[in-house]
This record gives sequence, C-alpha cells and structure tokens, in this order.
Amino acid sequence: MLYPGVDSDTNAAVALLADLACDRPERSVLEFGIGTGRLAIGLHRRGLRVAGIDGSEQMVSELRSKLDGDAVEVVVGDYRDAWVDSTFSVVVLALNGIFDPRGRQAQLDIFRNAARHLAPSGCFVLESWVMSDAQRSGEWSVIPRYVGDEHVELQLARYDITTNQIERTLVHLRPQGSAFVTVTDTYASPGELDVMAEVTGFDRIARYSRWSGTEFSATSTNHISVYQIRHS
Ligand SMILES: C[S@@+](CC[C@H](N)C(=O)[O-])C[C@H]1O[C@@H](n2cnc3c(N)ncnc32)[C@H](O)[C@@H]1O
Repeated sequence: MLYPGVDSDTNAAVALLADLACDRPERSVLEFGIGTGRLAIGLHRRGLRVAGIDGSEQMVSELRSKLDGDAVEVVVGDYRDAWVDSTFSVVVLALNGIFDPRGRQAQLDIFRNAARHLAPSGCFVLESWVMSDAQRSGEWSVIPRYVGDEHVELQLARYDITTNQIERTLVHLRPQGSAFVTVTDTYASPGELDVMAEVTGFDRIARYSRWSGTEFSATSTNHISVYQIRHS
C-alpha cells in the first residue's frame, strides 16, 4: 500500500477510467501527475488518446522510455495551472494528488484546471483516502504500511484541524539501518471535495470505495469520486 487505506488496484482503475472515457465522444484521458505511467500505459494500450502533466522531468523521462515516440503527450509542469492544448473526456488525479501541500486555494485551482481541460460532459476523477476518527483527533497515529522479513515501514501521522494539514513521517526500518521521509498534505474530506467541485462547476455523478466499483459507505477508508462538468 502506498497510502493509508489506498489499494492501488491498477487494472481496475484502468478499466473504470476506460469505461468513462469510452462512454464519451473524445475517448481520451488526461492524467494529472502521470508519473511513470502506471495508469497511462494501460489506458494507451486500450486505444484511448492519453496525455499527462507531471512536475518531475525524471518521472516523465522514465515514462517516455517505456513508450514508442509520442504515444502519450506529456507536459512538464504543475497540474495546478499547466495547459495541455486540448480537451478530454476524462481528467484523473489518483493516489491523493488532490491533497496538495499548498492548501485549499491550490486544490481549487486543480479543480479549475481539470474543468478547462474537459470536453462537454467530461468528468474529473479523484482517488483519495478517508481520515478515521482516530486520525482526526489530532493525536499521533501509527500505521504499519509494510511488514516484511527485512523491511518494515511505519507511518506516523498527525492532523491539525486548524490548518487542515496532515504531517506524515514514514519510517523505514531495515537490518542495515533506518530512513525517514516526511511529507505534509492538505486533507479534504469527501464532503469538502464535493463543495470544491460544486463551486468550480462540477456535479458528482458517482462515488465508489474501490476502483472495482464497490459502493462507498460510512466506513469506507478510500474513495473514487467522479465529477461531471456541469452543463451551462
Ligand atoms: C505518487 S506519483 C503517482 C503517479 C501516477 N499518477 C500513478 O497513479 O501511479 C505522483 C506524481 O505526481 C507528480 N506531481 C506531484 N505534484 C505535482 C504537481 N503539483 N504538478 C505536477 N505533477 C505533480 C509527481 O512528480 C509524481 O510523478
């Protein structure tokens, strides 16, 4: 698991995104934070037009090394405001990418950037985890993220309700020593994401707890939310 409560079910994610794209005339997907192509390559292989935005030259060159020529158009830039000169059936931001450390304004800008890249009836798909009551308390929580014979990864996390920021330190323990990685995210609950979608011109048309389409419930720890651009 990469993040608490997130099952990176790549095949199911590709299938759901492809279904959404194929139901719409442009049959195309733009991925914010395309990375090395975990989703994009599968979508491209299904015959969809795929493009991406990513801030990391290194990730993008790794993606390009896996593909022939310009099979997937990638713009190196910030998905808060970078422009790919086209519109798409689907924009996707997976793996908690909406929890931008720069805060609510950055999150709203990401919704707006998705909106301007969508064709009529296009949709913005977000994957995020859902905070538990224990994590919301403001106390430190400790979650084992990986437990193996020679490697244990623990996440220590603390949420600050005054800033909406969640500070996470990932501790990697191996026989040869330990390593620490600290990240800060701006948390948004499913309801807060719905409000951001509402004010940036979207209607929510679906919410699942897993990419396979499992229904979202009060106890879900993860959500896949599908927001359709509102007809003007
Ligand atoms: C965890 S990886 C996920 C990659 C891919 N979406 C996937 O699901 O496997 C996050 C990616 O988002 C990129 N990224 C993070 N913040 C970004 C931003 N504000 N603008 C553009 N790219 C960003 C990182 O460079 C990285 O490639």
